[in-house]
Amino acid sequence: MENMKNPWLKLSVLVFIWFFKSQISFGADTITANQSLSGDQTIVSSDGNFVLGFFTPGNSFNYYIGIWYAKISMQTPVWVANRETPVRDIHSSELKISDDGNLVLINGSQVEIWSTNISSTNSRSVVAVLEDGGNLVLRDGPSSSAPLWQSLDHPTHTWLPGGKLSLNKRTNRSQLLTSWKNSEDPAPGLFSLELDPAGNNSYIIRWNQTRQYWSSGPWDEQSRLFRDVPEMRLNYIYNFSFHSEENESYFTYSLYRNETTSRFVMHYSGQIQQLSWLESSRQWNLFWSMPRQQCQVYAFCGAFSSCNEIGLPFCRCLRGFHPKSEANWNLSDFSDGCERTTRLQCEEDPNLVTGRTNKFLESPNVKLPELMAVEFGGQNSWICNNIRQILAMAELYIRLAASEFPSSSNNNGIIIGAVAGGVGLVLCVVIFAILRWMRRIMMNPKVEGSLLAFGYRNLQSATKNFSEKLGGGGFGSVFKGTLPDLSIIAVKQLENIGQGEKQFRSEVSTIGTVQHVNLVRLRGFCSEGTRKLLVYDYMPNGSLDAHLFLEDKSEPLAWKTRYQIALGTARGLTYLHEKCRDYIIHCDIKPENILLDAELYPKVADFGLAKLIGREFSRVLTTMRGTRGYLAPEWISGVAITAKADVYSYGMMLFEFVSGRRNSEQNEEGKVRFFPTSVARAITQDGDVLSLLDPRLNGDAPVDELSRICKVACWCVQDDETHRPSMGQVVQILEGVLEVNVPPVPRSLQVLADNSEHIIFFTESSSSPSSQTPSNTSNASSQAKSNT
Ligand SMILES: *[C@@H]1O[C@H](CO)[C@@H](O)[C@H](O)[C@H]1NC(C)=O
Ligand SMILES: *[C@@H]1O[C@H](CO)[C@@H](O)[C@H](O)[C@H]1NC(C)=O
Ligand SMILES: *[C@@H]1O[C@H](CO)[C@@H](O)[C@H](O)[C@H]1NC(C)=O
Ligand SMILES: *[C@@H]1O[C@H](CO)[C@@H](O)[C@H](O)[C@H]1NC(C)=O
Ligand SMILES: *[C@@H]1O[C@H](CO)[C@@H](O)[C@H](O)[C@H]1NC(C)=O
Ligand SMILES: *[C@@H]1O[C@H](CO)[C@@H](O)[C@H](O)[C@H]1NC(C)=O
Ligand SMILES: *[C@@H]1O[C@H](CO)[C@@H](O)[C@H](O)[C@H]1NC(C)=O
Ligand SMILES: *[C@@H]1O[C@H](CO)[C@@H](O)[C@H](O)[C@H]1NC(C)=O
Ligand SMILES: *[C@@H]1O[C@H](CO)[C@@H](O)[C@H](O)[C@H]1NC(C)=O
Ligand SMILES: *[C@@H]1O[C@H](CO)[C@@H](O)[C@H](O)[C@H]1NC(C)=O
Repeated sequence: MENMKNPWLKLSVLVFIWFFKSQISFGADTITANQSLSGDQTIVSSDGNFVLGFFTPGNSFNYYIGIWYAKISMQTPVWVANRETPVRDIHSSELKISDDGNLVLINGSQVEIWSTNISSTNSRSVVAVLEDGGNLVLRDGPSSSAPLWQSLDHPTHTWLPGGKLSLNKRTNRSQLLTSWKNSEDPAPGLFSLELDPAGNNSYIIRWNQTRQYWSSGPWDEQSRLFRDVPEMRLNYIYNFSFHSEENESYFTYSLYRNETTSRFVMHYSGQIQQLSWLESSRQWNLFWSMPRQQCQVYAFCGAFSSCNEIGLPFCRCLRGFHPKSEANWNLSDFSDGCERTTRLQCEEDPNLVTGRTNKFLESPNVKLPELMAVEFGGQNSWICNNIRQILAMAELYIRLAASEFPSSSNNNGIIIGAVAGGVGLVLCVVIFAILRWMRRIMMNPKVEGSLLAFGYRNLQSATKNFSEKLGGGGFGSVFKGTLPDLSIIAVKQLENIGQGEKQFRSEVSTIGTVQHVNLVRLRGFCSEGTRKLLVYDYMPNGSLDAHLFLEDKSEPLAWKTRYQIALGTARGLTYLHEKCRDYIIHCDIKPENILLDAELYPKVADFGLAKLIGREFSRVLTTMRGTRGYLAPEWISGVAITAKADVYSYGMMLFEFVSGRRNSEQNEEGKVRFFPTSVARAITQDGDVLSLLDPRLNGDAPVDELSRICKVACWCVQDDETHRPSMGQVVQILEGVLEVNVPPVPRSLQVLADNSEHIIFFTESSSSPSSQTPSNTSNASSQAKSNT
């Protein structure tokens, strides 16, 4: 095998492999006692959906026995046998039934490096079968029913449909779903999901099997959801069920539709993720992940690094430090943390008590997790780097070598570190205690239900007196701020509030309960007299319009991202329309109200405002600049507003995903071009859909996706709202689960194209308010209210 330069030898090897393969393929889903799996041989489940064989993750040189999806173009392992014991040479390694009836992996030196570890059986009749659903089962004979061992009972990082994550009632030990170390190393990482051994039927995620940082809350059998995962109501995919048996309790789930490919993964980012495969875009689509924010994952960033939600990478070394392992850092494994770039003088010379050449660097706005300080402790004396005492969120002082500072004349400046021994310690503790106490007094909001109730002064100081404006609109301006716990917020100052205090609070608390991965989360509010403010999570990438309608030469949003945003937005709206307890019509869907998080995932903003603002809402809405192009005809005709009004606005927005421009624009000759009409014509007359695409994308979009989005958009803007799909249907179409027919051209689009007077209603640049704004909008508003 070594001398592959000889072509004849190569040929004979090939023939040998071919022969070997033909031998195994007679029982394509089974390994029997006289067979083995080696090299690039595989077995395939009888439904053709799963494959078992050797694979190598990413750019790694290591090989593992694993199970992956047969029909998915992106190799995605769902189970790994030898997670911790990879092999280098797959041709000399063998997976086979050993003499004692175990399935074992043997490396080139005939050493058993992995085994199913069951007690001995009659090996001659034991078979390993890769069953439909991706379960590798060891049986005593092909017809024996009870499995001796099955991979579904030993999941690695993926929880497949039909699998179970159980708690053994006799031992109080739970089955773990453990993350990989990183994208290239399947060895068990630091994060694991399991049923709480306390027995209260909640799933928890723990770091290093000790520190818990997330819980699903207990299962409620009646509503069939976990208490703290309300978005489970938005669920067309999973049928969860709880089982309590004599020796174990567990959850399992099945898929409502067998054509969906979906899975749960304990990701190496420390988040549990739910992903579904979208064949149309050939990628895994992230549906849901917990904890919601990356920085809520305990110790995601290792020692001497800080986590931030804004911008990538999530972890950054503190000043004066660099990643301990750049290779791991490059693979998004930040657990090693950082180390000093320049050693401290007191480390160089342990006898030195005062260090004149070391200084303290002030690092404001850092929050230390409670256990973290232990890692900072290290073996060095406290004066080097022990900040064990400073657990408050406050300024953090990092001791660095003087050479890390820009040289300045003020050498004797604030050298806190020069204070010797105990005096320094006491001083530091006192300073930080005061700091902490002052911040508490000044800033801490009250908790009301799931929301924080802020005083106006709190928000004034959090936003530095409303100095950093993020945006504005008809309902008020939005400002950036920072809370005492250092999370960044967006504060919306509401205007035109027509609600009484009691009603306002009740509406706000309703909005507060609406939580979904594609909806901006309301953190709290302030209500002091006429001062009404809402406090939201801050979205680092701002609103969609800024990305979609970029005028300058910066990179346009890729088609894949646009599709993701369209789908995520549709999911958020579906949740509002169909799944949350108080069904909510958004009423103001437009790119300005779609916010993007650090990874460009969309979150719908400003839902629930229609009821909150009350009577004035529809008047403001229908006269507001930048909104009219998205308003359904119902708003002007005065008929009742239903969720289908949102569908219309969503459809109008979809057209803009395609063109990357506002729907109506004046061209050079001053003529108004109305893009949706061009789309409707191209779609119904079998025109060239690629010609509709944003020219900046250079045709780089799959035609099937493009045409699907165009069709959905046309369906969404049908004149008769009963002809428009529901948002739930839109989601299914975009996921490729539901087919979509060619839509009729909506009459209004034809009229709009032919009659420029009507276009005024849709033209952003028209200076006079539309003369068509009807007098009966308040009527529409009261109907909207009764329908929300
Ligand atoms: C392998 O074993 C099975 C049953 O144990 C037998 O039917 C089959 O003929 C054997 N195949 C070879 C190639 O020896
Ligand atoms: C097989 O595994 C043993 C034990 O891990 C190791 O010492 C040996 O080098 C391995 N052989 C090969 C060819 O990888
Ligand atoms: C099998 O058992 C051995 C010894 O008890 C243990 O070291 C090994 O990790 C076990 N392997 C598996 C796959 O559980
Ligand atoms: C398992 O946990 C339950 C509840 O905490 C406790 O009552 C029981 O004694 C525990 N059993 C074992 C074997 O530890
Ligand atoms: C995880 O816990 C084990 C033992 O409980 C400990 O030896 C190990 O150092 C911990 N890992 C990290 C990264 O702290
Ligand atoms: C489950 O029980 C443990 C121990 O009794 C408790 O600490 C934890 O808060 C409980 N979890 C929930 C979700 O109630
Ligand atoms: C959901 O799962 C339960 C238990 O496995 C089953 O009885 C029920 O029929 C399933 N429901 C649907 C709609 O598939
Ligand atoms: C539970 O465990 C006991 C003892 O190991 C065993 O006898 C019994 O059959 C088990 N029950 C079930 C339902 O598996
Ligand atoms: C899904 O289930 C139906 C009915 O059970 C069956 O006819 C169909 O072949 C299945 N499709 C797939 C992809 O497994
Ligand atoms: C990490 O990534 C950077 C930038 O891509 C590269 O320059 C560097 O060589 C990488 N380091 C390692 C150890 O892979």
